[in-house]
Amino acid sequence: MPGATVEETGREVTNMCGIVGYTGPREAGPVLMDGLRRLEYRGYDSAGIALVTENGDLFVEKRAGKVAVLQDALGADTPRAGVGLGHTRWATHGRPSDLNAHPHSDCTGRISVVHNGIVENFRELRDELAAKGHVLASETDTEVVAHLVEDAYRGDLADAVRAALRRLEGAYALVVMHRDEPDRLVGARLNAPLLVGLGDGESFLASDASALVAYTKRVIFLADGDVADLRPGTATITDIAGKPVDRPIDVIPWSAEAAEKGGYAHFMLKEIHEQPAALRSAMAGRVRGDNVCIEEIDALRDRFINVSRVELIACGTAYYASLVGAQLFQDWLGVPARANVASEFRYSPPPLDARTLVVAVTQSGETADTIAAARLARERGSMVIAVTNTVGSAITREAHASVFLQAGPEVAVAATKTFVTQVVTLVMLAADIAQQLGRRTKAEEDELVRALRALPEAAERAIELAAVTEEMASRYAEAAGFMYIGRAFGYPAALEGALKIKEISYLHAEGYAAGELKHGPISLLDADVPLVAVATRSPVYDKLISNLMEGKARDARVLAVATEGDKQIEQLATDVCWVPDTLDPLSTILAVIPLQLFAYYVAVARGRDVDQPRNLAKSVTVE
Ligand code: M6R
Repeated sequence: MPGATVEETGREVTNMCGIVGYTGPREAGPVLMDGLRRLEYRGYDSAGIALVTENGDLFVEKRAGKVAVLQDALGADTPRAGVGLGHTRWATHGRPSDLNAHPHSDCTGRISVVHNGIVENFRELRDELAAKGHVLASETDTEVVAHLVEDAYRGDLADAVRAALRRLEGAYALVVMHRDEPDRLVGARLNAPLLVGLGDGESFLASDASALVAYTKRVIFLADGDVADLRPGTATITDIAGKPVDRPIDVIPWSAEAAEKGGYAHFMLKEIHEQPAALRSAMAGRVRGDNVCIEEIDALRDRFINVSRVELIACGTAYYASLVGAQLFQDWLGVPARANVASEFRYSPPPLDARTLVVAVTQSGETADTIAAARLARERGSMVIAVTNTVGSAITREAHASVFLQAGPEVAVAATKTFVTQVVTLVMLAADIAQQLGRRTKAEEDELVRALRALPEAAERAIELAAVTEEMASRYAEAAGFMYIGRAFGYPAALEGALKIKEISYLHAEGYAAGELKHGPISLLDADVPLVAVATRSPVYDKLISNLMEGKARDARVLAVATEGDKQIEQLATDVCWVPDTLDPLSTILAVIPLQLFAYYVAVARGRDVDQPRNLAKSVTVE
């Protein structure tokens, strides 16, 4: 089946790799290494540079590991060169290794390419290139681009790049260089960020302003479909057919430090805003035509028919995402499914055998309890699928198959974009398996695909609507604590909302199944302890409203998350955060967005260290 274009699944994907390119009078090597160090704050797994040296050679050095490993390999000096490109990779295809690190070259060793994005039709292109005699050395999707440019090259790099681009489906920010055109860089963007920097007699390309603001603040933000042809101090922009286009030159007002955060005050805020793009990335290549297909599980497909129960294992935020997954596996596969806190799993394991599907959900892939639980399940003969954001992480070695979130690196300790991508990935996983087993109708599948396609834009709208949380937070920041409630798909959102408040504002918050309120925690409610109710449109809406009224009757202020257009709730709640309507299983994703922003603004109002809250680590690698 031909790969879906990203236009079909949405627009921009997450900025998963860092790119920098330079042409001008400075020594290119140090400029590129400086750019890579500035891009590394996001945490990468390999790095590399390529230079056209003053002797006319193409010099390439690339290493798995951090930029420091690359620097060690290069030593104190890089070859003298005025043009080059560099890359920090965050793996999506192929595990982190020297070979898979960028830049990638063509057969002749004259062309060098770096890429951020996903070439969705790379398998087709790879087979076609191999049939023509090209030898591809790596497992990456990017390498096909170098060989396509090689095929099309007739002495003009920009023409060859444009010809190659016409063959690509997916998302890309690319920089390409040719040994025989030693002061030229060609960049292109489609659904992945890339900007041009213009200095005095020098030009830059970068995926992120942080890589170039130390040299120039004059930039051109490329638009989708743009091809930028750079010489020292100049940039000519055309469309993919070669027709010139005009783009304004902007001046970036940010310092280098602010640029790392894309101008946001904190990484957490930046990552909350990245969620629409992260959702698009998570779905890229998986929501295809009118169905959902996760290729990573292809090797296990024969075994799904025997699955008699599903056990999800995870910690923290990933556990809350797993609660959504458990509901869906149970509903859609028609077998018992349960989410388990990984740290408890080994002490009271459920029956585990070859008919048990175990899904281990972990952003980092390094959480000790989740790894230990997955290992136990595997030892007992269960099939283990990892759902993780980190290619090459420890969990991928325990699992029979790994499904990647493709969310891009998450820097803030408080998980945000990885929660929503965990949920959407579990939705796709459950839907794919259920569909394969014939347990869902075509109409149900069509409805889900439509809702998935609309989800990134709905998330954008949810972010816009949640702007009100900044003012609300100023009124709630002095609360003594919070009670969060939800039912069904609103329950994991309530738990996650409460966790966000706890971890970054250091205020006590309880997340409760709304029906349990009367069984104890309602005694906590009073004028100082607000009730936060996830009351989006759903089959349990009326019951949730009854619980909300119970809180109101105890003088608690009520902050409701509700679906746009709900007239009733406006009369009942003290404050309302609106979210767009969506399919019930996807509602957790939209409902959590205002709760993340509310927690963020409460923490800011309380003067907390939002990105690195006390006592917490991004990845918990001890039991
Ligand atoms: O890397 P993991 O997804 O396995 O991490 C699990 C939890 O430590 C993590 O989700 C934690 O709860 C978050 N930092 C909360 O925001």
